[in-house]
Amino acid sequence: MTKKIDPCTLVLFGANGNLSRVKLMPGLFRLDMLGRLPDEMKILSVGRQEVVLDAWRTDIKGMLDAKFKNGYDQKIFERFIARNFYHTNAPTDPDAFNKMKATLSNEKVFPQNLAYFLSVRPTDFALVVEQLSGVGLLDESKYWRRVLIEKPFGTDLQSAQDLQAKISKHLKESQIYRIDHYLGKSALQNVMFTRFTNAMFEPIWNNQYIDHVQITNNEILGVGDRTKFYDSTGALCDMIQSHLLQTLALVAMEKPEDLSPQNIRAEKIKLLESIRPIPVNDLNKHAFRAQYAAGRVCVADGHGENVHGYLEELAKEGVTESVTETYAALKLFIDNPRWKGVPFYVRTAKRMHEGNTGISIRFKQAPMQLVTDQHQNWLTLNIQPRECIKMEIESKIPGLDIATRTLSIDAPQRQHDDETIDSYEALMLNLMEGDPSLYLHISEVEAQWRLVDPVVKAWAADKKPVHQYRAGSRDPEESSIIFESKDQFWRYSIELGGDKH
Ligand SMILES: NC(=O)c1ccc[n+]([C@@H]2O[C@H](COP(=O)([O-])OP(=O)(O)OC[C@H]3O[C@@H](n4cnc5c(N)ncnc54)[C@H](OP(=O)(O)O)[C@@H]3O)[C@@H](O)[C@H]2O)c1
Repeated sequence: MTKKIDPCTLVLFGANGNLSRVKLMPGLFRLDMLGRLPDEMKILSVGRQEVVLDAWRTDIKGMLDAKFKNGYDQKIFERFIARNFYHTNAPTDPDAFNKMKATLSNEKVFPQNLAYFLSVRPTDFALVVEQLSGVGLLDESKYWRRVLIEKPFGTDLQSAQDLQAKISKHLKESQIYRIDHYLGKSALQNVMFTRFTNAMFEPIWNNQYIDHVQITNNEILGVGDRTKFYDSTGALCDMIQSHLLQTLALVAMEKPEDLSPQNIRAEKIKLLESIRPIPVNDLNKHAFRAQYAAGRVCVADGHGENVHGYLEELAKEGVTESVTETYAALKLFIDNPRWKGVPFYVRTAKRMHEGNTGISIRFKQAPMQLVTDQHQNWLTLNIQPRECIKMEIESKIPGLDIATRTLSIDAPQRQHDDETIDSYEALMLNLMEGDPSLYLHISEVEAQWRLVDPVVKAWAADKKPVHQYRAGSRDPEESSIIFESKDQFWRYSIELGGDKH
């Protein structure tokens, strides 16, 4: 279904920044290549540096050349470049926003529906909203005005609520698009479609059949050049607080009445609010953290590479101690009839033996047990690097004897000629369409912070040295403490046998 987009202007704050150069501008170009931008649509890039229009358009060409190494259609490029304008928002100029308003008021050039993409640092979100409001650029009496807020939305519950209090003075909830770019991934969106467009899943999607669920985001990469940022954030806030809890919400929510943004978000909110608070007085059984030590990881060409440990990387930046986790795992329970008693294990880690993001669901024991340790069925909905659905089932080995073996049914979700859409492309399109279903409602953000905040605080207060795992290894055995039963542990791979240790 292609939705109609009103003629509009996308106002891109932070146009000179990293995200804009690497993802947003190339993403907008791809949307233009796909014919998804309305003819009249314009892009006003706003940056703090003084740049003249010709130089900016040349700069954009460089961003596209870097991204589209195999070249692109010259005619589409010319159409795209003609959409682009630049406004200098000098930090020292008290009149900068009035000048921007004057620029935008040229209706012959700029359609008056305005979508603001705030690709600025989180400390600038509220300020930019206030300044836009101050000059009347959020007023919706004649045209729509939408504001996309980059992540993170706050660094804990209090700061998220403070940010909300500041921006809601100037914006209605319907104008605010809080991003979690994971929701733009088509494999993640497919979780909902797999569940609700197939008759076979719904009857077994509950505590009667499901033993436990694992939601994983593992990376081979370390913290790279983000050491200091990472040390102030940690794996729990960086990945679990939003990306993995959103994934969990899609796996576990009830069927929305229909696919309207309101109904999808209502079900996600209900689900997130029904996750049982993590008991901080019994934290060790519900949450596990660790840091990677020096080790050897697999690099792109399949060879090994020796790498430093996290604390060594920090030491190079002059930081001598840290309890920040690079491995975080939680056990969560959902207090509703469907999921009563089913543990959801959520983990994210850097410098693991393998990089993978996905959902693995283990089913309960089958009614007929032919051998004592008969394999239990698994269903995996994998998100990256492979987008696939895998099902592990028991099957009789052909022959005279009665014996079974495990088969893996492996269905790639992606076919050769499918579009490869970057999550930011999907999200920018939704912003212009006015479809917030892939954006976070404030109640979702609050529920997510409410859940992780007590763990973040307890971990920060506990200064004992953090458990170390060798870079390139599988999950630390010590993380088994959070599992409900002895026969449960992390799958280390989605391949057949990936649940054996
Ligand atoms: N990069 C990513 O892959 C990524 C991923 C996820 C989320 N994010 C989020 O996306 C946002 C942008 O990230 P980034 O990496 O692009 O940051 P960045 O490289 O620091 O860029 C931010 C840009 O915003 C500009 N800016 C600040 N206030 C402005 C204003 N009033 N008007 C116009 N421009 C203004 C800054 O200009 P000055 O340099 O002059 O201050 C800078 O060029 C951040 O909130 C980040 O958390 C980024």
